Amino acid sequence: MSIGGTAAYDGLAGVPPLVRRAVEVAREAGFGPSCRPEQGRLLHAPAAGAEVIGETGTGCGVGLAWLVSGARPGTRVVSVERDARWAATAARIFHDHPRVVVLHGDWREIHRDGPYDLLVLDGGGQGKGGEPPADPHLLLRPGGTLVVDDLTPARHWPPRFGDVVDRARMHWLDHSGLDAAELRLAPDLATLVATRRFPDASGDGPIPERGVRGGDRHPPRG
Ligand SMILES: C[S@@+](CC[C@H](N)C(=O)[O-])C[C@H]1O[C@@H](n2cnc3c(N)ncnc32)[C@H](O)[C@@H]1O
Repeated sequence: MSIGGTAAYDGLAGVPPLVRRAVEVAREAGFGPSCRPEQGRLLHAPAAGAEVIGETGTGCGVGLAWLVSGARPGTRVVSVERDARWAATAARIFHDHPRVVVLHGDWREIHRDGPYDLLVLDGGGQGKGGEPPADPHLLLRPGGTLVVDDLTPARHWPPRFGDVVDRARMHWLDHSGLDAAELRLAPDLATLVATRRFPDASGDGPIPERGVRGGDRHPPRG
C-alpha cells in the first residue's frame, strides 16, 4: 500500500492521460493509497510484452491505468477489488476499454482468467498477514512476470524488521519456480519482481491452459 500515493501525482508532468484521469477520480473519491508514480512506471514498462495481464487490489484504478497505458491494443487486462465502491469507481474509468475488466470480489477471483503473462499483486495474494500466497504455477505462464507491490526496502539479509524476518517476502525470493529480485524504486519504496521459470529449468509442472470465463464483471455489461 502506498500511503499518500494519490497525492504523489500533484504537479507531476509526463503522466499518461488515462493515469491522470484515474488519479483525478481517486482524489475526488478520497482514495489515498494509489500506486506511486515510481511503481506505476515499473508496471507500464513490461505491460507491452503481455497478452493477458492480471492485478489484485484495483483501488481506484491508478496502477491499472499504468498497465493499460503500456499495453498493446488487444491485451486483456483483469483486475479484482474487494471493496464494491472502489470496484465500481474504477470500472467507470475503463468503460471505453472493452478488453479491461474490473471484478468485484476477493483477490482469488483472479484465477478465472489466468494464467497471466504479467500479474501484479497489490491487494491480496502477497501472502502477508499469514494468508496463503498466490500460486505462480496456476497464475503465471512460464516466462511470465510477477510484481509484488509495494514494500519497505530491506536493509538486511534475510530481509527483516527488528528481529523478525519478513517471511512473506522470503516466500517469493526463495520460491523454487521463480527467479525473483527486490528492486528499490525510491529510498522508501521497494517492489519484488519475479519471472516464472520454464518447466525444463525448474522441474515445474505442466503449462496450464488459459481459462477465460465470464461473470461478475463490474459494472454489468450489456
Ligand atoms: C494499495 S491499494 C491498491 C492500489 C491500486 N492497485 C493502485 O495501483 O492504485 C490496495 C487495494 O486492495 C484492495 N484489497 C485488499 N485486500 C484485498 C483482497 N483480499 N481482495 C481484493 N482486493 C483487496 C483494497 O480494498 C485496496 O483498494
